Amino acid sequence: MNITSNELRKKFLDFFKEKNHAIIESASLIPENDASVLFTTAGMHPLIPYLMGQKHPKGTRLADVQKCVRTGDIEEVGDKSHLTFFEMLGNWSLGDYFKNESIRWSYEFLTDKKYLGISPDKLAVSVFAGDEDCPRDTESAAIWLECGIKKENIFYLPKANNWWIAGTTGPCGPDTEIFYINDSEPCSADCSPACDCGKYLEIWNNVFMQYNKLADGTYVPLSQKNVDTGMGLERTVCVLNGFNSVYEIDGFKSVVALIEKLSGKKYGESADVTKAMRVISDHIRTATFILGDQYGVTPSNLDKGYVLRRLIRRAVRYCHSLEMKDGDIVEIAKLYIDQYKDVYPELRKNAEKIADELHKEEERFSKTLVQGEKAFLKIIENMPTKEINGKTAFRLYDTFGFPIELTIEYAKERGYTVDIEGFNACYAEHQAKSNAASEQHFKGGLADDSEMTTKLHTATHLLQAALRKILGDEVKQKGSNITTERLRFDFSFSRPLTEDEVKKAENMVNEVILQKIPVICEEMPIEKAREIGAMGLFGDKYGDIVKVYTIGEFSKEMCGGPHAQNTGDLGKFVITKEQSSSAGVRRIKAELR
Ligand code: ALA
Repeated sequence: MNITSNELRKKFLDFFKEKNHAIIESASLIPENDASVLFTTAGMHPLIPYLMGQKHPKGTRLADVQKCVRTGDIEEVGDKSHLTFFEMLGNWSLGDYFKNESIRWSYEFLTDKKYLGISPDKLAVSVFAGDEDCPRDTESAAIWLECGIKKENIFYLPKANNWWIAGTTGPCGPDTEIFYINDSEPCSADCSPACDCGKYLEIWNNVFMQYNKLADGTYVPLSQKNVDTGMGLERTVCVLNGFNSVYEIDGFKSVVALIEKLSGKKYGESADVTKAMRVISDHIRTATFILGDQYGVTPSNLDKGYVLRRLIRRAVRYCHSLEMKDGDIVEIAKLYIDQYKDVYPELRKNAEKIADELHKEEERFSKTLVQGEKAFLKIIENMPTKEINGKTAFRLYDTFGFPIELTIEYAKERGYTVDIEGFNACYAEHQAKSNAASEQHFKGGLADDSEMTTKLHTATHLLQAALRKILGDEVKQKGSNITTERLRFDFSFSRPLTEDEVKKAENMVNEVILQKIPVICEEMPIEKAREIGAMGLFGDKYGDIVKVYTIGEFSKEMCGGPHAQNTGDLGKFVITKEQSSSAGVRRIKAELR
């Protein structure tokens, strides 16, 4: 079948619109409600609060196409199918329909001539085999059979295959996965969707989200039964067209052609050239979407910024291997922006920023390479043996940003060897540490006393005081959430703020910052705190003895802390957003720059 990405996206959304689903826009790639992941990795992330029972403003049936980034398998990119960015089509029931409608609609969309028109004989499905946590899903199997899926094409598989959860805790449940049956021979008598020989190609997953998994490993039924489905757009277009690799789909074909033009080489002329072109196509697309996101990130050595830096630098290295010139990555990004701008208008809006950041990062990387080469030469000058040990290779990577592949290449040219295993061990240790650090960052709240979150806590107190001075006592804290990048403050107020009021609040906070006022912490009985007029959420939240943080005459608030010592430490306070949070509650997001 011939189908383009745009056609599949449209058909999917049209189909679910007909089934009374509200079409919602893709949320940001930067998770707002889920601190457990660096990027949105599935359509369900932005919807977690609603899967847990909060009311969604658009109702209980939703459909969308969600931008996703998964970089866990970055080293695999370059093969036929791995991508670090992809679009996920999804339909959602938030306590509305369950297995019956979900499966029947999936079947209709896939087989009806009006939509994809796949022959039912070309479809296989897997369903949950059951265990001590959740029973065998005979119900889903029976529905598939009734729809017209052949009995021999229905497979019962265990949790490892047929259970979906994002991370280790949170909403989850058994799923049923749908596969396109390839014409290739089965790999063995036991060939099934569980093996990855290529006979069964997964195109869609329906998750029946009915549990919340707690940190102690127990599964608690959710207050409502949900459906979360996910269809990878690129992969499905590839499978339906019968392509050999995902890079043959429309969105990549034009980009590969551009890379051919820029490099003067032909896709397919050698395995190395093919791999390089695929890596460049994938990584620059992902970088373009991260830079162009509603909450864009820029390259840095931390968390998301580091992932972005790594993607750009890997792409640049592969560009070098194809003898492409500086600036070519910007041309590739421009083509992506052009191709995607109607579906993701934020790319058009941020086009200049995308080009600028790519250009700057490429320049920084060139400098790194020059410095790294110098460091490399110095190191080998003083080495007693001809083996570069793992620690040294890792130092080149960690301190000078010098990629291990280049260390190996340089070493080889000069008759040296590299202890790659030793390097991998150092790298794994570093990864474990930085993963622990990023988990710590994402705890956000009071458990995290990193410098930025501490400052943002103090800024939150200043913001609340400023809002009360400008808007009156109606303003009361309703919620607060702090990450290493921004604060989010929810407060009671009955109407949107005017631009002037937002500006006034921002200016007032900045004035207090400029006055360099010390932040004083005192412990006192809660009655005393009340007496002196400290703000705070009274109730069981505090013990008998509370901490009161006082910032001159400006703010006095009960809080567990920690806080900056002086307002002068905060930097420039910038309000980035004022919006509604729920009825009678406004939300402000702000940053310190
Ligand atoms: N959340 C499910 C997935 O990502 C649909 O596969």
